[in-house]
Amino acid sequence: MQKTLKSHGTWIGKWTFVLAATGSAVGLGNIWGFPYKAGTEGGAAFVLIYLLCIVVIGVPIMISEILIGRRSGNSPINAMKKSAVDSGASSWWQLVGWTGIIAGVFILSFYSVIAGICLNYIFISASPNELLSASEQFGQVTSSPENLIFWHTIFMVLTLLIVSAGIEDGIGRMVKILMPLLGFLLIFMVIYGMINGAFLKALSFLFTPDFSNVGTDTFLSAMGQAFFSMSLGMGSIMAYGAYMPKEQEIVSTSFSVGSLDTLVAILAGLAIFPIIFAFNLEPGSGPGLVFVSLLSAFNQMEFGQLIGPIFFILLSIAALSSSISILEPGVAYLAEEGFLSRKQSAITISALCWVIGIGTATGFNIFSAVDSSGETINPFLNLVEMISVQYLQPFGGMMIAIFVGWFMSESLIKNEIKTINPLLYKLWRFFIKFVAPLSVVSIFISQLT
Ligand code: PFF
Repeated sequence: MQKTLKSHGTWIGKWTFVLAATGSAVGLGNIWGFPYKAGTEGGAAFVLIYLLCIVVIGVPIMISEILIGRRSGNSPINAMKKSAVDSGASSWWQLVGWTGIIAGVFILSFYSVIAGICLNYIFISASPNELLSASEQFGQVTSSPENLIFWHTIFMVLTLLIVSAGIEDGIGRMVKILMPLLGFLLIFMVIYGMINGAFLKALSFLFTPDFSNVGTDTFLSAMGQAFFSMSLGMGSIMAYGAYMPKEQEIVSTSFSVGSLDTLVAILAGLAIFPIIFAFNLEPGSGPGLVFVSLLSAFNQMEFGQLIGPIFFILLSIAALSSSISILEPGVAYLAEEGFLSRKQSAITISALCWVIGIGTATGFNIFSAVDSSGETINPFLNLVEMISVQYLQPFGGMMIAIFVGWFMSESLIKNEIKTINPLLYKLWRFFIKFVAPLSVVSIFISQLT
């Protein structure tokens, strides 16, 4: 007999899930990660492979995660276990939930440090420093471990407070106003880039692919970015699915979230690269790209001291609506098992992430390194990002696809998906059974060889 687990509640209204899932998906991955990776990985070829990953792997896995979560109403560990047992498969499938939580701890550790820099930039962009260029200012911000740890702590505490407040009052309420606001500001930045930046050059950089430099690394990085950006393979979307009202359509909702997420990433590229090219900055300059390019734009534009802080406030909020979803699967598990209260669970897991995050904060300064091409890098950030984003997330996603494609009972699936065009259903089954797992495996294998 399965034991009774504590319930977490349900989102109120149809839009809360869409907003919460979009809030989870849209974050630093879109506005900070996507442009800088497109920059370092060679532009349009990366963008194209990324889009392919979203369609072929991302959306099909998102549908699978939501349906597993909603069916059970529990945290990913127990949701996987229940679905497996009810389908006559091994309860070991719950391990997928566990790898997700490990990935989440690593991700949140560095996510919080970067989001902390966004918080710091709210103040920096409000009072431009006449003596330092934007890139010198980024250098100044990241050269102080105390400063990075201070903002990392603030961001982690904010995340923990919202998650402690629970589903409806905390997360649900947060996302409703702030996500649309972020959209408006991003569009404003794109228009600014169109008028004042090198917009055509940016368009050609983002949309004219040159495959001559594409290697297996590019595929691995684009796939990792797709999983990261859509919050897949580690239980966030599954955990949110558990709070989705029963009458909501899973398939169309997944398409909406996937499209919004992609749109924001592209808009971020269109906001940032025109400025980069207009000021002859280096598109492949790495994690500092957004901070340097946008700050130099804000420093020069009229009302920049007002628009700058608003932009970084919204970016911080986008990061916050993602970080809460990274924390949620682990917290939901500890709380529903009755090991700890929701608040205690949130404190415990955040504390762990905070400690690991010190590695990323000091990797920018005390423990920074120089790579073979002479660039200064953050070795700790690169390592945790590689483990969690490039390996654990795709691995988790692949296991979810294999489970839903080959092990989960089809009657349970159909019960959850309800109305769907039969052709679309067949297509989804094909993608989830063959295309998604084989793509992940082949990218892994090509990387190893
Ligand atoms: N999707 C978020 C972003 O693009 O910033 C990051 C993220 C959230 C990753 C939730 C993973 C996750 F589970």
